Amino acid sequence: MSAPEVYSPGLEGVIAGETAISTVEGGLRYRGYPVVELAEKVGFDEVAYLLLHGELPTGAQLKEFQKRVGAARSIPQPLKDLLKALPGATPPMDALRSAVSVLGHFDPEAEDSSHAANVSKTERLLGQIPVAIADRFRLGQGLPPVAARADLSHAANFLYMLRGTEPNPAEVRAFDVSLILYAEHEFNASTFAARVICSTLSDLHSSVVGAIGALKGPLHGGANEKVMDILRAAGGPKTAEQWIRDALARKERVMGFGHRVYKTGDLRAKILKEFARKAAEATGQMKWEETADIIERVMASEKNLLPNLDWPAGRLYHAMGLEVPLYTPIFVMSRVAGWGAHVIEQLDNNRLIRPRARYTGEALRMVKPLNERS
Ligand SMILES: CC(C)(COP(=O)(O)OP(=O)(O)OC[C@H]1O[C@@H](n2cnc3c(N)ncnc32)[C@H](O)[C@@H]1OP(=O)(O)O)[C@@H](O)C(=O)NCCC(=O)NCCS
Repeated sequence: MSAPEVYSPGLEGVIAGETAISTVEGGLRYRGYPVVELAEKVGFDEVAYLLLHGELPTGAQLKEFQKRVGAARSIPQPLKDLLKALPGATPPMDALRSAVSVLGHFDPEAEDSSHAANVSKTERLLGQIPVAIADRFRLGQGLPPVAARADLSHAANFLYMLRGTEPNPAEVRAFDVSLILYAEHEFNASTFAARVICSTLSDLHSSVVGAIGALKGPLHGGANEKVMDILRAAGGPKTAEQWIRDALARKERVMGFGHRVYKTGDLRAKILKEFARKAAEATGQMKWEETADIIERVMASEKNLLPNLDWPAGRLYHAMGLEVPLYTPIFVMSRVAGWGAHVIEQLDNNRLIRPRARYTGEALRMVKPLNERS
């Protein structure tokens, strides 16, 4: 056993495995397709199929896939009971983490980690997760859950279950694009967590539960729930410039900016910004968009930091009238496609993920008997 020679804090720049699912080199691509083109030309359901099955679906394959996911849009009664019983203050991300764990107990293939079973389980989670999020949300509002619709897309069905009314095509399109952009991102923290878990030959539900825990943090998916806090704290276009300058002087971290990999901008943020702006225009309220523009300008000039996807996503969801604590769970209902694909890929060619640590503790010392310790 020789001492590890390379140490990179936070594993920055470390190649920790191989993947054929996506790359950030030369602009984000899923299975070879530029994400810009996917966002323009296909819907989230096709992207989820692409991630899980490796190719874009034919018309017939898409129909079958939507039928399978649509048929999985229900949750077992004990989970319904649990969602009612959890304390009212439980954050939706925590409730969702528990929900996925419970779903594992009821999945007929829970302990089958074959490629085919993991595809089926991910498809079922794609159906079940939005139901768990929407049911828990409505119960928290004192409203009865709305039964899912198998005839609607992933995006449209979720908005329908949340509100009980059919969403309009423009907001379905904007929401769908956000899901496409959230679906997959190489070895981000939550995906890596999922791969570490399944590399021990643990199961898919355990991997997704761990990934949800990793996504929750504000340095990762939790950032999209902080966006409106920042905009509200900035107060509006008149006070934004002074507010952000003061925040930076206080060395505050401004969630929604910066990225471990993208140092010259996150193209996903550019795509979604247009949708956030249009959604705001539809409400006739441009205050937060104008505030965001000022913050963007100051962050670029003072810190050379550019927006990441969470920055426009938080604004888009707010303009759509969605409650802030739903924003990271929405990320989950998309990213579960990427997590599932990574678990499958890891297990197709598995090796336990077990790095080394640089030791910074005490030098060698011997144990003193209890009566000699002071
Ligand atoms: C995503 C993130 C963790 C990646 O950062 P990283 O590569 O690990 O860089 P570090 O955290 O080491 O930060 C490097 C420097 O930039 C600063 N920085 C990075 N992001 C910043 C932000 N959003 N606001 C203010 N300062 C920031 C750090 O304070 C640090 O400054 P210092 O060297 O003076 O201490 C970081 O940019 C961040 O915290 N962003 C906000 C959270 C967020 O939006 N997450 C979603 C990512 S998609």
